[in-house]
Amino acid sequence: MISAADYAVELHGISKRYGDFTAVKALDLAVPKGSIYGFLGPNGAGKTTTIRMILDIVKPTSGSLTVLGAPSAMDVRERIGYLPEEKGLYKKMKAWAVIAYFARLKGVDAKTAKSTARELLERYGLSDFADKKVETLSKGMGQKVQVLASIAHKPEFVILDEPFSGLDPSNQQVMEDVIQDLNRTGTTIVFSTHVMSHAERICDRILLIAKAEKIFDGTIDQAKALIPKVVQVSGINDAAQLAAIPGVKSISAEGGMPGSFSVQMAEHADPQQLLRDCFQHGIELTSFQYHEPNLHDVFLHLVGDDAKVASFR
Ligand SMILES: Nc1ncnc2c1ncn2[C@@H]1O[C@H](COP(=O)(O)OP(=O)(O)OP(=O)(O)O)[C@@H](O)[C@H]1O
Ligand SMILES: [Mg+2]
Repeated sequence: MISAADYAVELHGISKRYGDFTAVKALDLAVPKGSIYGFLGPNGAGKTTTIRMILDIVKPTSGSLTVLGAPSAMDVRERIGYLPEEKGLYKKMKAWAVIAYFARLKGVDAKTAKSTARELLERYGLSDFADKKVETLSKGMGQKVQVLASIAHKPEFVILDEPFSGLDPSNQQVMEDVIQDLNRTGTTIVFSTHVMSHAERICDRILLIAKAEKIFDGTIDQAKALIPKVVQVSGINDAAQLAAIPGVKSISAEGGMPGSFSVQMAEHADPQQLLRDCFQHGIELTSFQYHEPNLHDVFLHLVGDDAKVASFR
């Protein structure tokens, strides 16, 4: 049985209003301990506002929440790591010193803070920059240093607001590694992103919000299952025979080409089974195309749809 102690964050009907404008509306969410949770949604959806409410930087207008079992993240701040959306570090400090400084603020002793800073810089390919001042680092390098500064005290819960923005492809990979390495040691991670491929590769669960409201909350597989499965076939002589195959919901003529059809599959039907069934029924095909939906397709499918909640537990 799952109890409150199994969640790093629980939000119950959390809302944030600025005057007449609602930035986050009645959001329920439970982040299981040890999971990687992605916050996705268009610009202005309410991701950062939600993150700031979780961290008690912004007070909710209504609703309640717990973070690591406490009523405010402030009560457990030494157990939390945070990368804000607005990035920036003390420019005059050296890279290792800035990481060690953040660790010390969270209660780590000076010696451990220094050795952890150097270890982290080494592990994530920044050892050459350890003794360079932050102001001499490129934007992406500085951002990597800031992420390391947010995790140097070995927090059990890490919340990263757009950790991938502004990073080149190889440093985006390093950022995925940082998140997965943390997760392997049991750390719970919440991060926001606009890049669906990162979320698809590393998240256990995703929250999709649009216009302040939750429109999906669940696993990647549950998200993909929401997309109607459509197969393109051509070379069909007998459309009625195709339409009669089990798992085929409907067919429609495709692009005016004789014998070409778009086949809409029933929710749990397997497109590969359609191919086998065609073969078995002697239906000859000259082409068969099925594009497995990805998170990008899910995003476009759901965000185009008006506030339809799909939540899985
Ligand atoms: N202090 C504030 N006062 C008034 N409106 C605000 C304030 N902070 C945020 N908002 C509004 O709340 C909405 C949600 O903003 P938020 O920053 O949470 O979006 P987001 O999902 O993080 O977007 P992005 O992907 O662009 O970072 C926006 O319309 C924003 O203008
Ligand atoms: Mg934001």
